Amino acid sequence: MEILVTGGAGFIGSHTLIALIHAGYTPIVIDNLCNANPIVLDRVAEITGVRPRLYEKDIRDRGALRTIFEEHTIEAVIHFAGLKAVGESTEIPLEYYQNNVTGTLVLCEEMRRAGVFRLVFSSSATVYGDPETVPIPETARTTATNPYGRSKLFIEEILRDLVASDDRWGVVLLRYFNPVGAHPSGRIGEDPKGIPNNLLPYITQVAVGKLKELAVFGDDYETADGTGVRDYIHILDLADGHVKALKRVDSDKGVFTYNLGTGTGYSVLEMVKAFEEASGARIPYRIAPRRPGDIAACFAHPERARKEMGWEAVRGLQEMMRDAWAWQSQNPDGYPESSD
Ligand code: NAD
Ligand code: WQD
Repeated sequence: MEILVTGGAGFIGSHTLIALIHAGYTPIVIDNLCNANPIVLDRVAEITGVRPRLYEKDIRDRGALRTIFEEHTIEAVIHFAGLKAVGESTEIPLEYYQNNVTGTLVLCEEMRRAGVFRLVFSSSATVYGDPETVPIPETARTTATNPYGRSKLFIEEILRDLVASDDRWGVVLLRYFNPVGAHPSGRIGEDPKGIPNNLLPYITQVAVGKLKELAVFGDDYETADGTGVRDYIHILDLADGHVKALKRVDSDKGVFTYNLGTGTGYSVLEMVKAFEEASGARIPYRIAPRRPGDIAACFAHPERARKEMGWEAVRGLQEMMRDAWAWQSQNPDGYPESSD
């Protein structure tokens, strides 16, 4: 069964390709490589024996989408393609709405034209804003505090309207919490461009000597040790959630929203300690001022995904750290620059 994976050369997409192949699907990738390296597909082939077909195109390219739908029998689409940096989104909001929202509109229009009505969408816990309570259920109030989060919220509402207007659609909205780690082989992983915004890639780059020390953004939050608490989920658990989501819309029409998190929160200092234990590396850090827009605590109520999709995270913190280190220690500079 062929599945179109937009943004499939990215961090989450590449790990999901492996889960799809192992589940017997044939993933077809469309990715404009604005934040990815095509070598990742060679690495997927190393791990699975299958090199997914890559269309190096933008999802806003109707001609490219029509070619794909003509050349393949696409049964469903997993839609990862998008820009995802919160800070950058406040600097270039137009580009974020153009890429994320318009990209999704074009994709859905071309899916409908091709008669493909099953979609799994990458949403984000960022749609909860600063949560009123934790753990956060899917029924919690949603609000956005930046253009990136608003783009995700807009897309969720667009897809709900689409489903309400046309009962041929089956849509799963997956609200990811904090994906971390890598495939245990260390051959694929998170490869942010420039200085990492996110905690764990920053820690692993300190461990491998690319960065000097970690700045802990605030230790005066209302948390056990004063540092920010988040729901970190192993990237392989997240990838498995997409296979379950495909099955969820195998027969059922409608729109279904699920948190993909562990339901457990860890603080920044707990992450540093866990990484040091898993890697044997020491992570020097200093307490720095809070990062604007950060919240104290955010972690999932994961029950609905378990009950309705039969999915739950199974990998613990030590495995997340061990696998993140396997990737970074084997690839201190990330993926090599592609030759072409
Ligand atoms: P990523 O940047 O590694 O992957 C996104 C991929 O999409 C990249 O390969 C990029 O080249 C591609 N892309 C971007 N715009 C495109 C376009 N217009 N046409 C074709 N390809 C395009 O990011 P990721 O961490 O793998 O995230 C994947 C999705 O999950 C994103 O939508 C992101 O917003 C969402 N998400 C990520 C996180 C996280 O912490 N990583 C958390 C919640 C949600
Ligand atoms: C985690 C914790 C920081 C870096 C972001 C996006 C969200 C989603 C996931 C796309 C916080 C602290 C971090 C550092 C630190 N992405 N930290 N020093 O902010 O929970 O979520 O990524 O959807 O939209 O907002 O993740 O990894 O940036 O931060 O102290 O150098 O680590 O304050 O408490 P976040 P993060």
